[in-house]
Amino acid sequence: MLPVARKPIVQYVVEELAANGIKQVLFVTGRNKSSIENHFDLDPELERVLTGANKHDLLEEIGIQDSGIHYLYTRQRMQRGLGDAILCGENFAGEEPFVVALGDSILGLNAESRTVARMMDLFESRGASCVIAVEEVPNEETMHYGVIEPADLNGESMRVVNLVEKPKPSQAPSNLAIAGRYIFSPLIFDLIRGVQPDHRGEIQLTDAIQRLCEEGRRVLAVKLPAAEKRYDIGNFPSYFETFVEFALADPLYGAAFRERLGKMLAASDVRTAGA
Ligand code: G1P
Repeated sequence: MLPVARKPIVQYVVEELAANGIKQVLFVTGRNKSSIENHFDLDPELERVLTGANKHDLLEEIGIQDSGIHYLYTRQRMQRGLGDAILCGENFAGEEPFVVALGDSILGLNAESRTVARMMDLFESRGASCVIAVEEVPNEETMHYGVIEPADLNGESMRVVNLVEKPKPSQAPSNLAIAGRYIFSPLIFDLIRGVQPDHRGEIQLTDAIQRLCEEGRRVLAVKLPAAEKRYDIGNFPSYFETFVEFALADPLYGAAFRERLGKMLAASDVRTAGA
């Protein structure tokens, strides 16, 4: 439930999905994560208090609990990697294609990204088995991501012929990194079951997608548009940056924070110079 500016990160992800037409969300959580369930539940008591206090801005923020999305929850009982977490959603997906959104990535300031909707259109119109969102990353950072090998680099989407999870820069097939949003046909579940755990005992989703490529299935990638930058909350340096960028963009408090931050930076420059 780590927040960025005013909201927990998971709320940005759910708001993005809702804006892209998603009506049912299954959270795959772990032990001690019941705060997510509480957050997305209705809270009549809090609503009463906020209404009484005329706090309409705060009431609006808790509106996501009442947005018409159907929330379901399941637990990954052991930390066996992303592939294993996706398997927890097999009954939920049934025979239908489904979206995977990683909870450590926010797409665009204020969840205004429409990439998932574009991916869904492409999945349908091109008869794909999988569509992945990708972003360009500096060559020296490929070892933090799954990296795709595209067949061609032109147009709105590209066919993926191979993928490598966290390659060294010298072994990376491109600098196009998997950006935390995927669409799958249910075919993926059997392929995940066939993946051998890696040296840390984790079942990598990227390896199962690679099997789709090997089977000749259509795996496509779409690049995130520049306006839909991915904010990675998975490590502290980028979490700090994300928090500051969202706080600066806050419609109510952003301007005052900018001024305050300017003063803080100037004061710390003085301290550094004097040190
Ligand atoms: C996961 C995926 C990786 C992807 C990344 C995006 O890695 O395995 O392919 O590029 O998310 O955030 P993780 O960050 O869980 O190590």
